[in-house]
This record gives sequence, structure tokens and C-alpha cells, in this order.
Amino acid sequence: MPLDRLVFQGLRNLEILDLRPGPRINLVSGPNGSGKTSLLEGIHILGMGRSFRTRQLRHAICHDAEALTVHGRFVGDPPTPFGVRRHRKASELEIRIAGERINRIAELVDLLPLQLINSDAFRLLEGAPSARREFLDWGVFHVKHEFLDAWHRVRRALKHRNALLRHGRIHDASMSVWEHELVHWSERIDAMRRDWMAAFLPVFENTLDGLLPLQGLELRYSRGWDARRELADILRLGRETDRQMGFTQQGPQRADLRIRLARRPAVEVLSRGQQKLVVSALKLSQGRLLEASTGRTCIYLIDDLPAELDGHHRRAFCGWLERMHCQVFITSVEHGVLTDLWRSDTSVEMFHVEHSEKGAGRLLPFDRQTL
Ligand SMILES: Nc1ncnc2c1ncn2[C@@H]1O[C@H](COP(=O)(O)OP(=O)(O)OP(=O)(O)O)[C@@H](O)[C@H]1O
Ligand SMILES: [Mg+2]
Repeated sequence: MPLDRLVFQGLRNLEILDLRPGPRINLVSGPNGSGKTSLLEGIHILGMGRSFRTRQLRHAICHDAEALTVHGRFVGDPPTPFGVRRHRKASELEIRIAGERINRIAELVDLLPLQLINSDAFRLLEGAPSARREFLDWGVFHVKHEFLDAWHRVRRALKHRNALLRHGRIHDASMSVWEHELVHWSERIDAMRRDWMAAFLPVFENTLDGLLPLQGLELRYSRGWDARRELADILRLGRETDRQMGFTQQGPQRADLRIRLARRPAVEVLSRGQQKLVVSALKLSQGRLLEASTGRTCIYLIDDLPAELDGHHRRAFCGWLERMHCQVFITSVEHGVLTDLWRSDTSVEMFHVEHSEKGAGRLLPFDRQTL
């Protein structure tokens, strides 16, 4: 479901913003420092309850404001309004969906499936496994509703086992109880991740083929514990070494997606532009699989789409966005580079962010820009 209204207040340098996005492609251009990334950040806060630029959401509050508020509305009959508010002095977020106060961010995440493609997206290839695990679990979470509960149970069992390890109580009777719980839910999680991977792989191969045909790119799921052994044995026999390390070394909390080319990590072989295309193919495939398996669509936030891509690849990327039914917000410094990438029957809305007299960022429909 697309968003048909966005209202932001107190977000970074942006003036109060009231945006009526189109249901498909929304292009946002403007000079450096005008507020384009902040606009995407606002949508991200709305859908995830957190920023992609800072761990401390209060840093996204405008220097002169006491709070930041982001509101959105889904098209529908009736439309669904929802919003997130963070006060500078409060430690908690206030989340509302259709007027109801919500306590769990997961409800927000479930409501607004988002995919972000920005310069941080390279972390999927070059960064720690946690980024790839997050990517994997986003997919599983949106397709399998029991995933979140299983994941909470794993986290709880791990916390208890790690506490026993740190207190040296490795022969404690409760150790076996928590290990048993951990094994049970870890296997559930592994099965869900495997199922998701089996569905994801062909979609990914097909998407990548349309973007950047690469022979031999390999995407492999690794479950986080030795493939030849049972997790129960690993935990029981590994208690002493886990005690020395102070934490549980193997389990689904160590799962990864290995992305390799010519038997080497893909990041060591691919050019920067090729990396962006592989990461984009991964993220587009998430949305395609979500559409195919649930009928729901993602909202794509794409910061500086033209960066690193030549004209041919920009067009191929936009071709995928057109074929999917998703709503997209794309930023770029230059307006012109984004406009000739679309078929004539694709609905494209254009906006411009400019510096106001006070230096704040002001968003206008493109034809009303004052430059
Ligand atoms: N908490 C804040 N309060 C007010 N202004 C802020 C705050 N944090 C950042 N800014 C300013 O907000 C402006 C907008 O930044 P943003 O990253 O959104 O710009 P941009 O249009 O994406 O620029 P670029 O083209 O360089 O990527 C910057 O000038 C920045 O200094
Ligand atoms: Mg930016």
C-alpha cells in the first residue's frame, strides 16, 4: 500500500513538511545540504522507529526544536494514519497507528516494509555479518509471522546461558534447560531461514541477471554453527570454551549470508558500481519476493541513485522498479539525470528541496521551485 501523505515536524534542517507523494515513483532533487537524505530519514523513522544515520534518534531532532514528529497515511478506505514522535527529553518513542498507542516497534515494521539503498548498503558486502543477518531476517520476518516469537525465545535462552557461563555455573542443572530451549528454537529459526533462502535465490539470480549478468556469483546461507554437528552437542561439549570466552560462540546469532565470486569474497573482486548493483539486486529481490509471497509491496528509499552507476545501469535499475508495484522515493542532486529514465506510462512525481531564506530545507513540487 502506498503512502499518500507525509507530515514531518522538527526533523533536522527541514521546515514543517507536508508532502503528497505519488503512488509510484517520487523523485526528490536539490543541492547539497538541502535536506534530501533527511526526507528519506523521516520515512525510515516512520517505518522502523529509528534513523539510518544515527543510533541516537534525538540527534535527528532539529537543533531548535523540542521534538520530532513524523506522520504518514496509507491509501485506503478508510486511510490509515500513523506516526512516531520523539521528544528531546523523553527516552521512549511514542508510536501511534490509527489513533492507538503502540508499544512494539515490530508492529510498525510490519505495517511499513521498507528497503533502503544508500551508501551504507555496501555494508551488506563489506561489513560484519550482522548487516547480512538483518537483511536475511527482514525477509523471514515479513513472510513468516512466527519468526519474531522464535527469535525472542532464542534471545532469551542465549541471555540465560551466557549469564550462567559468566558466573562459571556450567554444570548447573538450569544450563541443560536453557540449552534445550536454545536448540529447539534455533532449529526452528534455521528451518525458516532455509525456506526463505530457497525462495529467495531464484528471485535474486533473475534480478541480478537483468541488472548485471555476473557469472559465478554465489550467495550461500551459513546457519551459524558447524554444518556437520548437532547444535545440542556443540553447546554441551563447548561449555568450557564458551565459559572462557564469556559467551555462546555458535548458534543462529552467528548466521551469515556469504556472497562470493570466483571463490573470493565478492567485495574483493567487484568494482564499486558492480557492488552497488549486487546490493541493489539483493534489495530489489526482497521486495519482489515479498510481493510474490504475500501480495504486499515494499517502499523503496534510494538515496543518490545516480551515484556510481552509468546511464545503462541506471536505466536497468529503474526498469526493475517500474516492473514492481512498489512506491519509491529517489533522491539526486541533479534533477535532469533522473527524469529520462522512465517509460512514458509510469507515474512519476517530482519534488525539489531548496534552502529557505533562514537556511532551512523547504520542499516544493518541482514545478513550483523558486530557483
Ligand atoms: N539536528 C539537526 N538540526 C538542524 N539541521 C541539521 C541537523 N542535523 C543535520 N542538519 C543539517 O541538515 C542539512 C540537511 O542534510 P541532508 O543530509 O539531508 O542533505 P542532503 O540534501 O541529503 O545533502 P547531500 O546532497 O550533500 O547528500 C545539512 O545542512 C545538515 O547540516
Ligand atoms: Mg544526502
